[in-house]
Amino acid sequence: MIASSLLGALAIVGSAYGHAIFQQLYVNGVDQGHLTGIRVPSYDGPLTDVTSFYMSCNGGPNPLNTACGLPYPTTIIDIPAGASVTAEWHHTLSGANPSDSEDPIAKGHNGPIMAYLAKVNSALQTDTTGLKWFKIWEDGLTSDGRWAVERMIDNKGKVTFKIPTCIASGNYFLRVELIALHGASSYPGAQFYMECAQINITGGGSASPATVSIPGAYSGSDPGVKIKQVFSIYYPVPTSYTIPGPRPFTCGGTTDTSTTYTPPTSSSTTKASSSITKASSSTTKSSTPVPSSTSTPTTGGVALYALDLRPALRERQVCKVSNEYYSQCLP
Ligand SMILES: *[C@@H]1O[C@H](CO)[C@@H](O)[C@H](O)[C@H]1NC(C)=O
Repeated sequence: MIASSLLGALAIVGSAYGHAIFQQLYVNGVDQGHLTGIRVPSYDGPLTDVTSFYMSCNGGPNPLNTACGLPYPTTIIDIPAGASVTAEWHHTLSGANPSDSEDPIAKGHNGPIMAYLAKVNSALQTDTTGLKWFKIWEDGLTSDGRWAVERMIDNKGKVTFKIPTCIASGNYFLRVELIALHGASSYPGAQFYMECAQINITGGGSASPATVSIPGAYSGSDPGVKIKQVFSIYYPVPTSYTIPGPRPFTCGGTTDTSTTYTPPTSSSTTKASSSITKASSSTTKSSTPVPSSTSTPTTGGVALYALDLRPALRERQVCKVSNEYYSQCLP
């Protein structure tokens, strides 16, 4: 029994290329268009260095399409404060693909999903240096032993959260982030996936949420970034998980650590009544980022995530556009 669980886990972890890209946004259920207003990369790989500049809005090892000569998105998506926003993830930039077993992401890429906002002068500005971020939503491990990524897969790539009603109107970057933890027994190992949408919040208030820098908000030794035991996200399933970064901002000033889980199979009119309280954490973060290590992890899973280090090599390579949906980095 234990042995077969472990074998299953090993098979899943072997899908090193089951990456994902946040690529479509819905506002109160209204589709804003595929790839519209979102800075998508040309490669769907992860980042693993939490101190990387590209942790804010991707790029670098996963060149943004702009690095391939394509323009930045010119659309700014209007979102009323308090709106329900749905971010949709898929394996590749071509969107939903039911025949791809790794769409929206390969099973086994378990971990949390979260959303951050940073106020900007213009959501069309290309520079993402020094942005001040606040988290507005997070979903991690619920007490039923299931992860945010599993719920996202059940919902065909979609995650839904609310824009706080009380924050200032104006332009923001909306950063939606997914962390896959299958390699997180060492650091670097956890896989960070994120994209930024260009948004304009309307009808807001005057709250000034506390902010963090990205990079800076995470450390390689955070319990949610480096988890103790090899394969521990599979077996035994952990009972709690501390999501990296601050707790989400809420307009009431209280920290809301609850997540409502909606079973994906039920009709959309049937809302789950169970509200599951996540493990809350009120740890004070060290602001000192841990420098990245360039060494190859030497624990038991080495062969499995050796592949995951390859994107780091891409920074020295050249980006070649095939079309809007696909480009390659060549030596
Ligand atoms: C943001 O929305 C406000 C209110 O509708 C509008 O006046 C403003 O022009 C918008 N800004 C951008 C950059 O879209």
